[in-house]
Amino acid sequence: MNRILIIDDEEVFREDLASLLREEGYSCRTAADGDEGLRLAGEEPPDVVLCDLQMPGMNGVEVTERLSALCPEAAILIVTAFGTMDTAVDAFRKGALDFLLKPLEPDELLRKIERCTEELRLRREVRYLRRVAAEASPGTTLVGESELMRRIRTLIERIAPAASTVLVTGESGTGKELAARSLHEQGRGPDRPFVAVNCSALPRELVESELFGHAKGAFTGAVRERTGHFELADRGTLFLDEIGELPLELQPKLLRVLEGGEILPVGATRSVKVDVRIVAATNRDLEREIEGGHFREDLYYRLKVIEIRMPPLRERRGDIPPLVEHLLRKLSRKLGRRVRGLDRAAMQAVMSAPWKGNVRELENVLERAMLLAEEEELGLGDLPADLAGRVGAGEDTDDLRTAVHAYEAQHIRQVLRATGGNREEAARRLGVNPSTLYRRLKDLNIDA
Ligand SMILES: Nc1ncnc2c1ncn2[C@@H]1O[C@H](COP(=O)(O)OP(=O)(O)OP(=O)(O)O)[C@@H](O)[C@H]1O
Ligand SMILES: [Mg+2]
Repeated sequence: MNRILIIDDEEVFREDLASLLREEGYSCRTAADGDEGLRLAGEEPPDVVLCDLQMPGMNGVEVTERLSALCPEAAILIVTAFGTMDTAVDAFRKGALDFLLKPLEPDELLRKIERCTEELRLRREVRYLRRVAAEASPGTTLVGESELMRRIRTLIERIAPAASTVLVTGESGTGKELAARSLHEQGRGPDRPFVAVNCSALPRELVESELFGHAKGAFTGAVRERTGHFELADRGTLFLDEIGELPLELQPKLLRVLEGGEILPVGATRSVKVDVRIVAATNRDLEREIEGGHFREDLYYRLKVIEIRMPPLRERRGDIPPLVEHLLRKLSRKLGRRVRGLDRAAMQAVMSAPWKGNVRELENVLERAMLLAEEEELGLGDLPADLAGRVGAGEDTDDLRTAVHAYEAQHIRQVLRATGGNREEAARRLGVNPSTLYRRLKDLNIDA
């Protein structure tokens, strides 16, 4: 049963209203002024509040403001007489959902209350679904202990509460979207919408209506009104992925929205105010795109108020072991398999790979390995051949230890070949004990 609280200084009005609503099956409590209303709301949070605007003591606007803070879930309906519309508008700003004109029309009253309770139900459902979705996702923490990654985490933490536009750049698979989600969670919060739009995947002729929405009949095929991504992201974050692919003719429109905070749906006559934090991402070099005339410079600077550069994985190989651990845990949940980790040789191969596809490629390689593996520890045999074959190859890496290991493996192989595979002889020529050589053969995964 929905709980309704009536706050009105006129006793007859208040009690008549209460008995009408009780007959309809609502549970009603009444208060003669704001103070009493707030006290009752504190005892038992109402679903709907019908609040008079003009009362002695605290007026309706003030009551609305304090009620919204006290029970943010409640729908507040302002009851007002003609001539007080200005004040009613103030009440909207403080969180009222709708208003009713005195004298009350019973049908209209019941319809509005029903609409409010329906809205309330939907709000609760959305909140619940967002929570479920957030719990199911593996989190938005950017894993990695390298100095580069730490700095990015600190930067995100610092800029999250601001409303400024952020541009995330970096090669494909470096975690641009994850950075955007992390920014959203720490700033706008997980309860608010995060809407991701891939600018390259939008059909060219529909980009504008997808982003800004359209009015019914705005163009052939626009049979009903459509809410655009901007409006869906209201009060939350709009992630404009692959912004470099946004058609040139739409760029000034986006710029206008960023500057004015208002959107004009296609074919609409009035613009809509939106409060959206924009995070854009690109793996293109936008400065080159500007030179080539494919991207507007003004938009670029408007987007790049703050830039987060996601470094490629090969520049922070120290992040690979913690990433592997994190990704294996994440994949274990997804695939329902248990894996302990990588054995030495596999870890070495993974440490020295070029990772042109960055973290995404690493994740895909691990997923494949996990599906193929028979043991709980993943070995070289579970990795793609080109990767496994790289152990000791040592190209594409600046990491000193990896390079040294690569050279060592190559040198040992050469000496072994020269001695026809005679390990004692090879050890002698290399100037090490045979047992040391055996250990290195094993560690460097050299078949001999
Ligand atoms: N630092 C990190 N910690 C944990 N997971 C990461 C990290 N970086 C990337 N990932 C994971 O790697 C995958 C790819 O990341 P994401 O989609 O954010 O990359 P992207 O830069 O947007 O890639 P693309 O340019 O291909 O769209 C995701 O599954 C993401 O969760
Ligand atoms: Mg992406």
